[in-house]
Amino acid sequence: MAFYSDELIEEVRSANNIVDVVGSYISLKKKGSTYVGLCPFHNEKTGSFSVSDRKQIYHCFGCGAGGNVFTFVMNYENMSFPEAMEFLADRVGIKLPKRSITDEERQKADKRTRILELNKTAATYFYQLLRNDAGKRGMEYFKKRGLSDDIMRAFGLGYSDVHSNDLYQYLKSKGADDAILKESGLVTIDERKGGYDKFWNRVMFPIMDVHNHVIGFGGRVMGDGEPKYLNSPETICFDKSRNLYGLNIARTSKRDYLLLCEGYMDVISLHQAGFDNAVASLGTALTSGHANLLKRYTKDVYITYDSDGAGQKAALRAIPILRDAGLNVKVIDMKPYKDPDEFMKDGKGLFGGESVIEYERRISNAENGFFFEIGVLESKYDLKDPGKKTEFYNEIAKCLSVFTDDMERENYTEAIANRYGIDFSMLKRKVGEILLLNDGKKVNSELKSGTGVKIKKEDGRVVTQKIFLTMLIDHPEIFPSIKELIEPGDFTDELIFKVAMIVFEGLEHGNLNPAEIVSRFETEEEQREVASLFQSEIGNLSSVEEFKAAVKETLLKVKRIASEHRKEGTNDDIRDAMERLKKDREIENRIKNLNLTINEDGGN
Ligand code: UTP
Ligand code: MN
Repeated sequence: MAFYSDELIEEVRSANNIVDVVGSYISLKKKGSTYVGLCPFHNEKTGSFSVSDRKQIYHCFGCGAGGNVFTFVMNYENMSFPEAMEFLADRVGIKLPKRSITDEERQKADKRTRILELNKTAATYFYQLLRNDAGKRGMEYFKKRGLSDDIMRAFGLGYSDVHSNDLYQYLKSKGADDAILKESGLVTIDERKGGYDKFWNRVMFPIMDVHNHVIGFGGRVMGDGEPKYLNSPETICFDKSRNLYGLNIARTSKRDYLLLCEGYMDVISLHQAGFDNAVASLGTALTSGHANLLKRYTKDVYITYDSDGAGQKAALRAIPILRDAGLNVKVIDMKPYKDPDEFMKDGKGLFGGESVIEYERRISNAENGFFFEIGVLESKYDLKDPGKKTEFYNEIAKCLSVFTDDMERENYTEAIANRYGIDFSMLKRKVGEILLLNDGKKVNSELKSGTGVKIKKEDGRVVTQKIFLTMLIDHPEIFPSIKELIEPGDFTDELIFKVAMIVFEGLEHGNLNPAEIVSRFETEEEQREVASLFQSEIGNLSSVEEFKAAVKETLLKVKRIASEHRKEGTNDDIRDAMERLKKDREIENRIKNLNLTINEDGGN
C-alpha cells in the first residue's frame, strides 16, 4: 500500500459507496439498514452476506469473508491492492498520480516478460524439431497414440531431441544469459560443466495460460521410463495451483460445462474427439485456486479422472474443493477404461466408433458428487450386519448435516432416503438432531470440507468482545456513558485490542470510520477479522429496552473476562486481590445502574 498516500486511499474509498460497488456484482436486498445477498465467496442459497451502508463494510456470516470496498474488489476481481485502487479511482473519475513502480517491481515484471519470451522461443524450437528429421521418433510416438495433425498443432506439441544441451546453446545464441535461463526452469546450470537442458528425448507439451502465453512444459518419455512425465518447476510465470492445462481452448467451448481430467493426454484425446471443454490440473492435486479459476468459466464441472483407486481418491479430494467454490460437481464413470484417453482410443476400443456417443451417454449419466462420496463410504460398511448398517446410516446423516442451506439439505435427504430405502422422516429427524447438537458448528463428518472456506470456531470470550465492539459502532451515542467503565486494555484478544484503541479514539473525537479502520490493516486475514468485529451478530433485539439490557449484559461480560484474564497473569497477594474484587464490584454496580440513551435509527 506504500505507493499511495493514506489520504488518497481514503478519498478513493469514500468516493466508492460499497453498496453500489457490491450491488454491481451481486443482487442485494435492503433489509433494515443493511443490504443482504448471496455470498459470492462461498456456495449458499440463503443470503448470509451483508453490506452496511453506514459502516461501508461487508461481512459474510456463512464463510467469514469481510472487509471494505478494496477488499471486496481485490477478492472478487482477483486484483492486487494497486490494481483495485486504480479500478476504483477510475470508476469515480479520480485521477491517480502516475505510480512510480519500484525498481524491484520493474525487475520482476521484466523478468516475467523475458521468461515468457524464452518459453515461447523454446516452444517454437520443440515444435519445429517434431516436424523435422530429428523429431521422427516423437512424431511416430504421437501418431501411434492416434493424434491428428490438427490437434498436435492446436496444442503446440513438440519434441526435445537426444542432445542434452542443444536448447541451452540455442537460447544462448539468442542472447539469453545463464541467470535468466536458470530461472526459466528450462535448463540447469552446473558451475563447472555448464548448462544442461531440463528436457531431452521427450515429446513436449507446452502449457499455456488462458492468454495463450507458454508458462511451462510437460515432457513425456516415449515408451516406458521414469519419470513418465517431467514438468517445468514453478517459476514466476508458472503457478501450478492457478493454471489448468487446456483451459486456453476450453474457455471458448460452446458446451456450458467443463470436463476435469488428470492428464495431458486425456485432455488432448478428449479435444480430438470433439470435447473441446476438457482441462486438467497439472500433475498436482486440485486446489481451491483451480476451483476458482474453473468457476470463472462455468457452474458445472464433470470429473473424469482415472477409474482406479488413485483416481477415486483424487476425486474424493477434489469434490469438496469444487463444492466449496460453489460449483456443481458430477463424476463420470470411466469403466472399463483407465482414463478418457483410453476411452477415446479412436475406434479401436470396446465401443469402437461409438466411443464418442458412449462418452456422451456417460456424461448424461454422471453421478452427483455427493452421491459419489456416499457410494464410496458405503463400500466401507458391511450392510448385511445391522450394527454396521446403523453406523453407515448415522454417517450419512452426519454428511447430510454439512449442507447449510435448508432446502438443499432437505432435497439431498430425500434423494438419499429413496436411494438407500431409509425412511425419509426418520433420516430427516436424525439430521435435525445432529444439527441441534452441534448448534450451527461445522460437523466433523467423513466428508471433508475443501480448503476453500474455513469456518473458524470461536471462543465465547472473543465473541462477547466482538459483540460489544459492534454495539459501540452501531450506537456511538452510548460511548459517553460507558467510557469511564471500560478501556481498550479490557479486550483480551490481541486484534480486538488494537481495533478497540482506534475505535475508542475515533469515538472520543467524533470521527469514527469503520471502513477506514479496515484499510489500516495490511493482510487480508486481518481485514476480514476487523470487518467481522464491526458486523457481528447481535441477535434479534426487538425493542430499545431489550437492546439497552443487552448492552449492559455484554459490557458486564467483557469486564469479567478482562478481570479473569488479569488474574491469570498475576500473583496478587490477598490484600491486592481483595482490592481488585472491590473495584470490580463497584464497576459492576455502576454498569447495572447505567442510564443509557439509544438512538433508534442507529445500527448497521
Ligand atoms: P497418468 O500416469 O495417469 O498419465 O498421470 P496419463 O495421462 O494417463 O499418461 P499416458 O496416457 O501414459 O501418457 C496423470 C498426470 O499426472 C502427471 C501428468 O500431468 C500426467 O498427465 N504425471 C504423471 C507427472 O507429472 N509425472 C509422472 O511421472 C506421472
Ligand atoms: Mn493415459
